[in-house]
Formats: sequence, structure tokens, C-alpha cells
Amino acid sequence: MGWASWNHFFCDYNDQTIRDQADALVSSGMRDLGYNYVLIQECLTTGRAADGSLIVDAKRFPHGMKALVDYVHSRGLKAGTYTDIGVNTCAGKPYQGSYQHEDQDARTFAAWGMDFIEMDYCNRPEGVMGRAIYERMAEAIGKTGRPMLFYICSWGNESPWTWAQGKAQLWRTESDVAAEKNQAHWKNVVGNFESTERHSVFNGPNSWNDPDMMVVGNPGLTPTEAQTHFSMWAISAAPLWAGNDLTAMDDATHAIFANAEAIAIDQDPLGAGPVKVREYGAGIEVWAKPLGALGSGVQAVMLVNLGDAPAEAAVEWSDLGLAGKATVRDLWAHKDLGEFHDAYKTQLPSHGSVLLKVSGEFSWARGATYEAEWPGNTRSVDAVLIVCPECSQSYAISLRGGKNTSGGSSLAFNHIVVPESGRYWANLVYVDSGEASDTVQMRVNQGSPTDVKLPGAIYGTAKFPVDLNKGENSITFRFAAEGSVDIDRLTVTR
Ligand code: GAL
Repeated sequence: MGWASWNHFFCDYNDQTIRDQADALVSSGMRDLGYNYVLIQECLTTGRAADGSLIVDAKRFPHGMKALVDYVHSRGLKAGTYTDIGVNTCAGKPYQGSYQHEDQDARTFAAWGMDFIEMDYCNRPEGVMGRAIYERMAEAIGKTGRPMLFYICSWGNESPWTWAQGKAQLWRTESDVAAEKNQAHWKNVVGNFESTERHSVFNGPNSWNDPDMMVVGNPGLTPTEAQTHFSMWAISAAPLWAGNDLTAMDDATHAIFANAEAIAIDQDPLGAGPVKVREYGAGIEVWAKPLGALGSGVQAVMLVNLGDAPAEAAVEWSDLGLAGKATVRDLWAHKDLGEFHDAYKTQLPSHGSVLLKVSGEFSWARGATYEAEWPGNTRSVDAVLIVCPECSQSYAISLRGGKNTSGGSSLAFNHIVVPESGRYWANLVYVDSGEASDTVQMRVNQGSPTDVKLPGAIYGTAKFPVDLNKGENSITFRFAAEGSVDIDRLTVTR
């Protein structure tokens, strides 16, 4: 969470602008709500010195970069900077990207005292994958010894959600939400929000899909649209960057940023991505994500009307995996709405939405489904992510065995949280090309391993009992024989 310069200012800013925004983060109370990074984007440098080091634009930053970062730190905030995978950044010459200067620039950013680095995707050198440059930069950041978050801003190119965990903490899923300076467009807001859902399964702590810095408070959105925009980002567990002029925001804009209940939805520790659980005609959509744990029975729900006319919208408990009745809290009205059977209905204006917290009883008879590819799981080096079109969410984890591996491979499904200790059923869905059955070793928590037989099937399910503890559990599968077993998902039922 923080403030980023680009969407409002483009390159029309200087040292004082950044200090003023940092001050405003403090005086508006936003810092204390969690907005604590100040990201200085674009147009920072004018060239390189004879030794290859970056030359900071002395007109824009008359006191140098270190002094500005010190100021940001003195306000209890963290500082971020910007670079690019090319020789030059998106704004072009003379602004410097870090291509083939990754180590040197990472050291410079560390020496400035930076806490965060965005690396953009313009001017990709011919014949070089962006991924190679991002990986070099990630390593370079590690070598500096200074903790700096790394943001891969490849606009969704090269699918960083499939490979960047452990290297970067966040990555852009789409092109810019603001194509022009200080302008917001509703259709871009909706488009950027929607494209994050395709990668929801890869969302989790230190693995954040980013739909872009917000445009709340910049001209172009109605107050209703601005609030829906914030709800969309919150239910996406998106990085929350304000992208407006914080020194001149009106009360309505401030109230949107300051909604602590919506922020809590965004910052929920599970970090699940959003899922569209239902869509009605005329643009009525129901979005949800579990809070805390998949089977917690507590969900964030956004009902949104993308249509042009007011309409009724409803969320049904069965779409959330809840049984019976549930309580509903409206996170913009800050009001408990009471207890509802089966569903909750409301009227929405065009482009309007409600953000709700729904608490009910999770249906363990239907069960909770844990995807193998979720980054919160643990896998050994020989357990690899593969594309699997017939799998849920289109990916699987391939457990490779045989002598070319370091003694087989394993995948632990983590964070299986259940309400009571006792016997549950594990339903393992796997993909296998062979006719012969395979045997995998299964281990619940630190218990002793048992064999589970996976009958030969193109797309198979094996069901077996597991004894789980109340609260946190993990279930590990290990495969060491010749060949491989591809795991799609695990559903835990009672
Ligand atoms: C875009 C990037 C934005 C901003 C801008 C500056 O490519 O997505 O976040 O940094 O470049 O040129």
C-alpha cells in the first residue's frame, strides 16, 4: 500500500512534489492506515557517468536522491524507485533502464536507501526474454543485502505469476489503467480488474497479482465508480497504490481510501484472489473470495452492476459454499445488515456495488478445494508447474520421479484449516497418461507416511481418509518411482 506518482503526474513532478505527497500521506491519516510506500516513477535520470553509474536529474532532484529518500523515511514512510528492462525507460531518452547494469543499479538503489523497485517492460532488447532480465535484477537485489520489494511491471507479458515467486513479490497483470495523465476511464478500471481473475489461483502472500495503481481521485470517474474501483481492488487483494494528488483530494476521495474495513478485505492474510461466482444478464456480477482460510465460512463478496441501468443483484450462499443462514455486514455503510437465509439481495445503481462480509457455516459435506499450483503450497525442486488444460484453473503440479531427480519430488498442500479434529476425506484429482497405477506416499502433518494408490486414468480421483487436527494442517504427497504423476487439486470433505 502506498502512493505512486505516475497516474497523476506522469513526468511533471519534482523533489518538492514527492515531499508534499509524503506529507499528505501522513496528515491525511493514510500512512497510519497502511499506505506506507512512496513510489517515484519515471524520468529520474539523465544518463550514466563514465563508470556506468546512474546520473540523477539534478534539475528535478536538486538535493539528490538520497536526501529525498531520507525525507520520505523521516516521515515514517518507505521509498520506491523505477527502472526498466531496456536501455531506456518508457519515457525514452535520456531516462535510463537497467539493461546490463542490473547489479550496479541495484547497488545504487540500495545506496539511495530504496525499499522498493518497479521494473518496467519498455524497449525490451531484441532476442532477450524479459524474464532473464527480471531474474538478473532479482538476484542483483538479493546481493545488495538491502530488503527491497521487487515489482515486475511486464503488463502481464511472460506470465510472471507462473515463475516469479521468490524473486519478486508483485507483478502487473495488464497494461496501464491510465493511458493519459491525470485521467481515469471506467472501462480500463473494469478491464484491469477482470484480467486479474484469470490468475487468481496464483494470488497469495508474497505472490501478488497487480491490476495497476489506482485512479481513484483523478478526473473521469463518478463517485459511485470510484468506490466500485476501490472495492474491485480490495476484493482482488491488490496492492493499493493511491495515484492521485493527495494534497488536493476532496472528502469523498479521502473517505474511499480511508475505509479501514475495505482495506482489511484487501489485506486479509490468506491473500486469495477474486472469483466471479455468478453472472446475471445486464452486467450483474457476484465476486467473492474466502477470508482467512478456504473453509473459514467467512467471505468477502462484491455485488456489482456493470450495466447502464439500476438493477437488483443477489448473492446465493450456495455459490459461496455456505449452508443454511449467514450474517451480512456492509463494509461501506459500516453496518451489520442481519441474518439471511440462502441469499442476500439488494438494488444497485449503474456501475454501483456493495462490498460485503458474509459469515456463515462452511459446508464440509461439499468440501474445500485446494489447488496444487497455489503458491502457498510447498514443493520440492523436482515438482514443477505445468499447463494442464483439462485441470481446474488450467495448471497442475507434476511430481517427477526416477533417477533424474533428487530422489523423487513432493508437494505439500498447506493451510488446510478445519473446524474440528477428526476424520475427513481427501479427494485427490490427478492426471496420468499411463494405464498402470502409480503409488504416491501421503503424509498428514508430521505423521508417518502411508501409500495411496492412484489407478491408471487419464483424469482420475482417489479418495482416502485423513485424520486432521483442529486448525492448521498440511498434506504432503511424494513420488519417487519412474515417470511422473501430475496433481490437479485436493478436495477435503467430511
Ligand atoms: C508504464 C508502467 C507504469 C508507469 C509508466 C511510466 O509502462 O506500467 O506503471 O511506470 O510506464 O512510464
